Amino acid sequence: MASGQLSRAEALACSGCRHACHVMLYADTKSQLFGKIPIRHIILMQMRFDGLLGFPGGLVNPAEETLEAGLSRELSEELGVALPMSVEDHVVSCHAPASSPSSSRLITHFYVKKMEEEERERERLIVLGMVRVPLYTMKGGGGLASFLSHSFIGNARSQLVDSLLRLNLVAPEELHKALVHSVKTHM
Ligand code: GTP
Ligand code: MN
Ligand code: MN
Ligand code: MN
Ligand code: MN
Repeated sequence: MASGQLSRAEALACSGCRHACHVMLYADTKSQLFGKIPIRHIILMQMRFDGLLGFPGGLVNPAEETLEAGLSRELSEELGVALPMSVEDHVVSCHAPASSPSSSRLITHFYVKKMEEEERERERLIVLGMVRVPLYTMKGGGGLASFLSHSFIGNARSQLVDSLLRLNLVAPEELHKALVHSVKTHM
């Protein structure tokens, strides 16, 4: 196994560890973008509350629920669908890089689950997803700064930033800090 990887059993044997389970839900599709570009597969990710992209799922306490039941609970919380998850959907478990020396170690469990494409999704394939813009900045730059460091189409980024200022949706100093931080993390 590659460094940092653990078997499911080894992971569960770690007493002081915290556990997080996330899943890549995907479906095959015959749909074509503009009738000519094959979309091939629909893969679901989410724009998280901190402005970073990630998979649906979350923290699970194995003392209270199995990893799969916990992941299923997170999916109902985050997606509004109670999808059953099984041990067979488990792909890999590994130690997350320590966020601080004092925090207890986090083990991330990754799952993959294939879904059937839903008919009603077909018309919505051009837009990959709607996101709510985080207007807060967290320690380390999460939130607005992370959000602004993504790539935007055309001048959408400056349209967003200008509107935030003009409508006073974010305090100018806070926006300035987020802008400076987004440049630092992006470049
Ligand atoms: P709450 O809303 O606070 O309950 O969060 P949650 O239980 O949904 O947890 P979250 O999804 O934030 O995941 C917990 C931790 O797992 C995060 O703090 C990240 O360190 C890590 N994490 C989150 N998403 C992903 C992901 O897609 N992949 C990996 N490898 N780690 C992730
Ligand atoms: Mn959650
Ligand atoms: Mn989550
Ligand atoms: Mn949670
Ligand atoms: Mn929670």
